[in-house]
Amino acid sequence: MKKAIALIGITSVLAAASQAGAVTVTLACGTVGIELQLCKEGSARWAKKTGNTVKIFESPALTNDRLGLYQQQLAAKSSDIDVYQLDVVWPGQLSEHFVDLKGKVPAGEVSAHFPAIIEADTVNGKLVAMPWFTDAGVLYYRTDLLKKYGFTSAPKTWPELALMAKKIQDGEQKANKAFTGFVFQGKNYEGLTCDALEWIASFGGGTIVDNSGKISINNAQAAKALDTAASWVKSISPAGITTYDEEAARGIFQAGNAAFMRNWPYAWARGQEEGSKVRGKIGVAPLPSGGARNAATLGGWQLGVSQYSKNQAASIDLVRYLTGPAEQKIRAIQGSYNPTLPALYKDKDVLKAVPFFGSLYNVFTSAVARPSGPTKGKYNQVSQAFSTTVSSVLNGQSKGQAAVAKLATDLARIKGRGW
Ligand code: GLC
Repeated sequence: MKKAIALIGITSVLAAASQAGAVTVTLACGTVGIELQLCKEGSARWAKKTGNTVKIFESPALTNDRLGLYQQQLAAKSSDIDVYQLDVVWPGQLSEHFVDLKGKVPAGEVSAHFPAIIEADTVNGKLVAMPWFTDAGVLYYRTDLLKKYGFTSAPKTWPELALMAKKIQDGEQKANKAFTGFVFQGKNYEGLTCDALEWIASFGGGTIVDNSGKISINNAQAAKALDTAASWVKSISPAGITTYDEEAARGIFQAGNAAFMRNWPYAWARGQEEGSKVRGKIGVAPLPSGGARNAATLGGWQLGVSQYSKNQAASIDLVRYLTGPAEQKIRAIQGSYNPTLPALYKDKDVLKAVPFFGSLYNVFTSAVARPSGPTKGKYNQVSQAFSTTVSSVLNGQSKGQAAVAKLATDLARIKGRGW
């Protein structure tokens, strides 16, 4: 976590500090894909426009590590970071530390975003943060290899994916021992919570805790989904899958060593970049169904202003700038970060750079939320208990049915008298 303390100053215009009222705002942003580069460039544009200065706080890549670090800063009421990049599952846990943006960001700007995301960012009537980009899990596949092995379209169900992955893997391994069928996020962390929620929801096994706060995980469909995922380990996925996060999976796919990958949309821009071994050979489809539906977990990131910031007005201005249409368009085109503004899904330049923002629009608007709403401040504990359980099934330490039954007991303990 030490690395996160690195601060990189971006000085915009010459002698910015000499301008009347110029301030320095520190922005904590992510480092996955080309996030950091885009964050620096966007901030520099705002700095140039306003005469202020932005310092970038490089956050750790894993969302769990980020949360830990931010919680320390916020608990200490530190004013070091003015603007935080917040995961869509955090507002309920962190709301007390953020400025209410309602009324401070014009209502017309707020209502330009997807209403469901604004709702996720609103806690007890307080607008904790503004949406910056949204996320939903998608299936990446190698168009050239599907063709080579006689497949005409992406798999529609998990069994179909397993069959296709096995056939391609067996064929490709003859010349390339490192080749594997399917990579995803199998490490025990928030990313596994996202992947496993997709499996379970696609089997009709619910969302761990339902919207009313009832623990719903102990059911046969959820158990079946987990057993299905466990059957992939060491058959169509490598043994190491239980240590992979987003970037590990992307590294393998982008090196040309996997037929299928579950990842977020950002992996598209990286895969299509110059020098990528899979450039021009990537297809993107909805994640397969387990019989009930195609399910993508809703992810995404927001920008919120710390209650402890000494530069709140300038910070709010930075948030408005970065979450506005011009910046979101640049980020969509250059980094395939999904806009939170529906209007940009009709933008010709955006659709040219990322065609699946159009073809998979329904995937993004019907994504399944993790139960951070109903479990409020206890979401992180719930998610950790869940990913630990899933991990034990993937590792072969338990079977689906016993695992979901034990998890339900653990969750009841965490819930206590209420969430
Ligand atoms: C992505 C998602 C975020 C999720 C994380 C898990 O960054 O946008 O919501 O928590 O992945 O690794």
